[in-house]
Amino acid sequence: MKYLHVKDVLDGKYEGKRVLLRGWVHRVRKQKTMVFVLLRDHSGVVQTVVKQGSVNDKAYEDAEKMLVESLVTIEGTAKADPRAEGGYEVQVDKFQVLQFSEEFPITEDQSVEFLNDNRHLWLRSRKITNTLKVRDQVFCAAREYLRKNGFYETTSPMFVATIGEEGADLFEVDYFGKKVYLTQTSQMHLEPQIVALERVFTLAPSFRAEKSRTRKHLTEYWHLEVEEAWCEHEANMKRQEELISYICQSVGKNRSDELHELGIDPEKLLRVKPPFDRITYTEAVEICQKAGLEINWGEDIRTEAEDILTKDRDDFLFVQYYPKEIKSFYMKNNEADPRTYKNDDLLAPRGFSEIIGGSQREDDEKLLIENLRRIGDDPAKYQWYIEIRKYGSVEHSGFGMGIDRLITWMLDLEHIRECVPFPRDVRRIYP
Ligand code: 4AD
Ligand code: MG
Repeated sequence: MKYLHVKDVLDGKYEGKRVLLRGWVHRVRKQKTMVFVLLRDHSGVVQTVVKQGSVNDKAYEDAEKMLVESLVTIEGTAKADPRAEGGYEVQVDKFQVLQFSEEFPITEDQSVEFLNDNRHLWLRSRKITNTLKVRDQVFCAAREYLRKNGFYETTSPMFVATIGEEGADLFEVDYFGKKVYLTQTSQMHLEPQIVALERVFTLAPSFRAEKSRTRKHLTEYWHLEVEEAWCEHEANMKRQEELISYICQSVGKNRSDELHELGIDPEKLLRVKPPFDRITYTEAVEICQKAGLEINWGEDIRTEAEDILTKDRDDFLFVQYYPKEIKSFYMKNNEADPRTYKNDDLLAPRGFSEIIGGSQREDDEKLLIENLRRIGDDPAKYQWYIEIRKYGSVEHSGFGMGIDRLITWMLDLEHIRECVPFPRDVRRIYP
């Protein structure tokens, strides 16, 4: 007989039939002459009942004495039972404990700190299991969308000598006596690759030595970075809204059970459809000023401003054309307003915050060098990055999406670390 998955039973396909299951004891409830065992595998939890006399004596004794998280195999008959969670029960006639668990340290009402210290054990909770399934779907959908649209998946180094974003957030590494960094972005190494492949993406960690302990910052996060040749600013934003919408649709359709269990209405994701509204940075500042926030043109859009801009929205919002002073040197000059670059940040609904940062890139060698000089940086440090502009420099754009941020928004999580199997933040490098 073949092992089934719990979900096969819960789907009703085996009503009245014999089933063989294996997994972990999720809960156990003992009565006088029977033991109710909630059996868990990757696909769900099903109620099973082991009755005295229905299994051999040794098996019944084992069922009585085993603790939660023990590893078991169960054979029996599936029966519809409206009293059981999930609507089905398995009446067991063969039962074997493969490993008797020790007393499981995780029980109800434990502190967040304790649970995070024991994340290697807490991972098997329903909440984290469901969250990780959503995470898997996000990775899968992102790759699917990009592949369908002619993008090649590629890789970039994690040890870098050239700085991609702000200097302050760098992790330094001693590389055989030389100072290098863990990468903050793969962008610098994706741009040269478009001359070979035209459309590329990488799905990899980025590292930021963020001291801010917010619910949206990790020190190691997963970054989907997309770079496209023959692509200007508006087409780049179109790519972003299509990608986000594709991922939301895919999760809404394929993970609706998990979403329901996590208390999220799939409709929240299914209604995410392009086009997203677009406002300029200048308009964003005016809206915030009208709402009473003290913010001047030239200052960054931070948490409070993001909140004002998106708190009443159910859909995503692009803010485009930020001032040069607060954005990176590699962005393309905006001729229509030379104080600004052709860039965008994509803000998630309901005050969540930035999920994507993107821009058209400066493909003119001289202007790129001018940008570096203006901010007092040394072009020599970026020699190879500038050099690619000498040979067939092509109009191009790209963006970076914070995968963990997107999932945090999707699932209304309290903290970004909840969607990562083993999160890393300022205080946590264990387990
Ligand atoms: O806006 P950022 O810094 O942009 C870049 O790194 C570009 N070079 C990307 C590119 O164009 N290829 O980061 C991109 C996104 C942010 O919008 C945010 O979602 C996420 O990365 N992010 C973080 N996520 C979790 N923890 C952190 N500490 C993050 N910092 C940025
Ligand atoms: Mg950004």
